[in-house]
Amino acid sequence: MGLRFIFMLTRNDKTVDDAEKHLKTALAAGVHHIGFKDVGLPFPRLKELNQAIKDGGATSYLEVVSLDKESEISSAKAAVEIGVDILLGGTNVDAVLPILKGTGIQYYPFPGNIVGHPSILEGSIEEIVASAKDLTSREGVDGLDLLAYRSPGNVEELMAAVSAATDKPVIMAGSIDTKTRIDDVKTSGAAGFTIGTAALDGIYPAEGEDLDAQLRSILKDVAEVNNHISSISTKNLDQSFSKFDETWSPRIAGQVNNMMVKLAKFEGDFVWHYHTVEDELFFVHKGTLMMKFRDRDEVVNEGEFIIVPHGVEHCPVAMSDVCEVLLLEPATTVNTGNAQDDRKVKDLGKI
Ligand code: NI
Repeated sequence: MGLRFIFMLTRNDKTVDDAEKHLKTALAAGVHHIGFKDVGLPFPRLKELNQAIKDGGATSYLEVVSLDKESEISSAKAAVEIGVDILLGGTNVDAVLPILKGTGIQYYPFPGNIVGHPSILEGSIEEIVASAKDLTSREGVDGLDLLAYRSPGNVEELMAAVSAATDKPVIMAGSIDTKTRIDDVKTSGAAGFTIGTAALDGIYPAEGEDLDAQLRSILKDVAEVNNHISSISTKNLDQSFSKFDETWSPRIAGQVNNMMVKLAKFEGDFVWHYHTVEDELFFVHKGTLMMKFRDRDEVVNEGEFIIVPHGVEHCPVAMSDVCEVLLLEPATTVNTGNAQDDRKVKDLGKI
């Protein structure tokens, strides 16, 4: 799984008043992780917001802002009542763990010493790492919420040190507002990061300042960082077939898992053969194909296809001058199957 982007419906550590509207935009943009804080909206609206996140197929996060023990206990109880998937933040682990026990809510508390509002992460890297190790050794702690960009020290070193200190996922929070910072988070070995204010205020580099443009830009950058960008473009069969003339000499046009997409031109009769393990699909793009079997002949016209199961003897015959055929078959398939024929092709060219 790649780096996780958690969109926070928050500005300056408060859930925004128009959270429901922004949630719709986020779900439509394809954001799968969406969070809010326990400050800013009345409880019933937070509960509805959480339900809307889950109804939209996303994972919900509640980040605890208050740090005094009593408020944090209330927040943890609220998380249970709201039914969030993941509780982020907080520092009073001993008080919160019993509340969450048996609820199925995942818990990612803050490592280190957190002060003030908006929160600041205090202490040396060594102290924060020690806290991270202590917390993640606890049963019921599923990960960490590191206020990396709220630390006055070397943020990259801090993120790498905390990520290395535990096998559990570490989420980076704070002012992540550029792709460079997303790159840094990925490099650190973190599991994910949060962005709230930067997207809501149109600060993230994007084609527009509106939330939709902001989120799409972040999702694109995350996809790039995760190497989830496809290098494959549309292929046109007419153009591809025009690039070669040899008959009975398949070209590789693509691959779908271990299945090869091949393009071949057929002319006249091929050779009777079968394939011990491979099934073959023949899709006729141009011309007419006759697939001979021992019990019958099948005519395959343009826009039609036929599947030949493994073990079945067959002999393809072009009924038109040249028949253009798209083949779908495993990479191991040899065109002549079990037969000895000088039209056997071992090393296929690409197209
Ligand atoms: Ni065959």
